[in-house]
Amino acid sequence: MINEIRELVRLSGVSGNEAAVAEYIKGQILPYVDKVYDDALGNLVAIRKGEGPKVMLMAHMDEIGLVATFADEKGFIRVAAAGGVDPRTTIGRPVQFENGVMGVFTCGSKAMKELKLGDCFIDIGAKSREEALRRIEIGMTACFLSETFETGNCIVSNALDNRVGCYCLMETLRRIKNTTCEVYAVFTVQEEVGLRGAKVSGFEISPDVAIAVDVTLSGDYPDTAETAAALGKGTAIKIRDRSAICSREIVEDLENLAARKGISAQRDVLSGGGTDIGSVQLLGKGVQVGGLSIPIRYCHSAIEMADRGDVEATIGLLTAYLEK
Ligand code: CO
Ligand code: ZN
Repeated sequence: MINEIRELVRLSGVSGNEAAVAEYIKGQILPYVDKVYDDALGNLVAIRKGEGPKVMLMAHMDEIGLVATFADEKGFIRVAAAGGVDPRTTIGRPVQFENGVMGVFTCGSKAMKELKLGDCFIDIGAKSREEALRRIEIGMTACFLSETFETGNCIVSNALDNRVGCYCLMETLRRIKNTTCEVYAVFTVQEEVGLRGAKVSGFEISPDVAIAVDVTLSGDYPDTAETAAALGKGTAIKIRDRSAICSREIVEDLENLAARKGISAQRDVLSGGGTDIGSVQLLGKGVQVGGLSIPIRYCHSAIEMADRGDVEATIGLLTAYLEK
């Protein structure tokens, strides 16, 4: 588990620049599916043929990050956010541009108190604007870097949102044996900037059922908003978030199946947030949707934490659902 997640999070995949992640995933899942293709936006679609209902599974490949907007005369690079970047939880982290140039996301000491993105910049050690723009281009994305390690039963890393979901989908494709469903496993792009990739992919596939595998907020650490989900209590069956209300039938199916198979499960209920099913649910004549979430702590910081048991439970329940 940890080795493949490490491979996945190491790849730069800020919204709009997911190609390296797609390429890696494609190489890993090719032997387990009948067909793989990508679309104009860069969504990666893997099909496992079957006679039964069309089930679309989704995990977004993109991560939050920064976009270079201009370089000042001293060579410091100003940035915009790709997705929900909070400078208070990401300041001081090393970053890497898509061409490999490294820098640090930092700010002046005066700004620290009430930190806004506009106070922050990336320092790549350039001495002038000319040098900065020789090394990076305006419009390039940069991702946060961090160590990936295990502690206790947890995995800690950047970009667990949502490479851990990608991992669950990949592993599910490798594990399913007997299913009558036609499975469309879609590794989507641009989720963090408004559930965009899922929209075109869902339109094209027109599934009977769609399930998103993504992370959710755990409310189990000091000074955070309380939520339904906690680390270590199993896969979180989505009830609703701001983007979608899940089909009751699917929630019931998943909960019954978890109980029957002895897979630990909890509920995922968020007042905010969203995920890919929010786009797919509203397509055509409407699509029945559900979600399995992996609770994480410190979501959208440069270093997030998940429980290995919850990851395993997510793969287990998804596999059982498809084989049912
Ligand atoms: Co996210
Ligand atoms: Zn996510």
